[in-house]
Amino acid sequence: MKTAAPPAHSKILILDFGAQYTQVIARRVRELQVYSEIAQFDISAAKIAKLKPNGIILSGGPASVYDEDAPQLDPQIFSLGIPVLGICYGMQLMAHHLGGKVEFSPRREYGAATLHVMDGSRLFEGLGPQLDIWNSHGDKVTALPAGFHAAARTENSPFAAIENSERNLFAVQFHPEVAHTPRGKEILQNFVYHICHCTMDWTMGSFIDEACDRIRRQVGDEKVVLGLSGGVDSSVTAALLHKAIGDQLTCIFVNNGLLRSREEEIVQRVFGENFHVRLKYVDASERFLSALKGVTDPEQKRKIIGEQFIRVFEDAIVDLGKDNPKSEIRNSQFRFLAQGTLYPDVIESISIGGNPASLIKSHHNVGGLPEKMHFQLVEPVRQLFKDEVRQLGLQLGLPKEIVYRQPFPGPGLAVRILGEVTPERLSILREADTIVQSEMKASDWYFRVWQSFAVLLPVRSVGVMGDQRTYENTIVLRIVESQDGMTADWVRLPYELLARISSRISNEVKGVNRVCYDISSKPPSTIEWE
Ligand code: XMP
Repeated sequence: MKTAAPPAHSKILILDFGAQYTQVIARRVRELQVYSEIAQFDISAAKIAKLKPNGIILSGGPASVYDEDAPQLDPQIFSLGIPVLGICYGMQLMAHHLGGKVEFSPRREYGAATLHVMDGSRLFEGLGPQLDIWNSHGDKVTALPAGFHAAARTENSPFAAIENSERNLFAVQFHPEVAHTPRGKEILQNFVYHICHCTMDWTMGSFIDEACDRIRRQVGDEKVVLGLSGGVDSSVTAALLHKAIGDQLTCIFVNNGLLRSREEEIVQRVFGENFHVRLKYVDASERFLSALKGVTDPEQKRKIIGEQFIRVFEDAIVDLGKDNPKSEIRNSQFRFLAQGTLYPDVIESISIGGNPASLIKSHHNVGGLPEKMHFQLVEPVRQLFKDEVRQLGLQLGLPKEIVYRQPFPGPGLAVRILGEVTPERLSILREADTIVQSEMKASDWYFRVWQSFAVLLPVRSVGVMGDQRTYENTIVLRIVESQDGMTADWVRLPYELLARISSRISNEVKGVNRVCYDISSKPPSTIEWE
């Protein structure tokens, strides 16, 4: 079935100069219900003209315009007639290219400041004469390019914000996108709505309609297969595809024997019973556990699990083919493989000056399969950030239990059992983990942290239970807060809650007599123990 091409949206294009906050800018714009897209700093003006954005934002970045390898932009961008807002390094680039002066400073101005707004500024319209802002810059603009005037100043800088209203060029030295600039959202609103004339047309409702159209156009009446892990991304992708193409979608859920307690039940209940999604459940626990027998090296474990997964998944697809006698060639039923790839996985990441912020680690559970089995990929949520995927999930009717669940690694409990994975150890860890999850949920902490889980150390220590000496394993509690998993800190959980979890684990889980709390941040530690 052919449908009309989706309508063009308002759009803000963000050029990434390696700032820590580029994705934050993109999300702030989307919070204004305007679509935003990130492009590499060196995109040509001609290419931008084709994309037809309503406005352009130049991100900050760690470089100095005077660095030999400083990321440069195509200066024609300023002549496209499209409004531009430069932030921090973006401001310095704008001034530098248009004939102003930027002064090199080895010292960074960092932290809160007060911004004094000049009369008549379009960027700060309606915001009053004084604003709290957040600075983080080294170099600064000391002479304005022709046609520009100062729009705001701080104690340290007469040019904290500059404008050329005629050419619709604006720039700020501070960071409107961060929470420490409390009225930053209104500054961005002025730019996005009043200067760029964007309309609020980026809503989940319109996304669903357009995504369904896109999926139908892409797959026609062919069949699609999806590896459903029970995680947020694959679950939302499944729900969206199901809405778009119903029974043309088949999900495969693999029980690798390394899942949390009752995980397979939850997934089957939500997707099989509630959504009536075609779901093939494959219990491959024995296959995985026997492949892991005797293996203690963390990388080796991960490799074995990854390889087994692909084999099991392949076999499952072949099996599905057998269920359908019309399928002549192996795998001919399914031309498409769906994946829950998100926007941060597809942004071309750049690393400038060793800034790791934009290097995103992605874990694809079915890596290698598409080429091998000649699949075409369907990635219907690749435009979305994680928080948007969650909104989408809720709107599609998925329960909060799935939409707000914490990340769980593909290799499952195997990377939370140090050393060899055995059925006994898995059962100890599952029991301890269930207690952690239930206490975190009961106290309302579960949804406030990034991850909370138990790790089993096969290190035995002496304890005492009643009159008996015990010699048992150790459970470590790992409870961290994080924005994206790249860095993390341990959560300062209330002592009473820690005490309750600890005493329940030592009393209720046979084989454990000691509970420790992991107080390491990432870096230098990682979130998972292996
Ligand atoms: P680390 O341990 O590297 O974890 O600090 C960062 C985040 O990634 C998750 N993680 C994984 N997720 N497959 C996944 O799907 C994996 O192999 C994997 N390893 C780690 C981890 O739970 C944390 O949220």
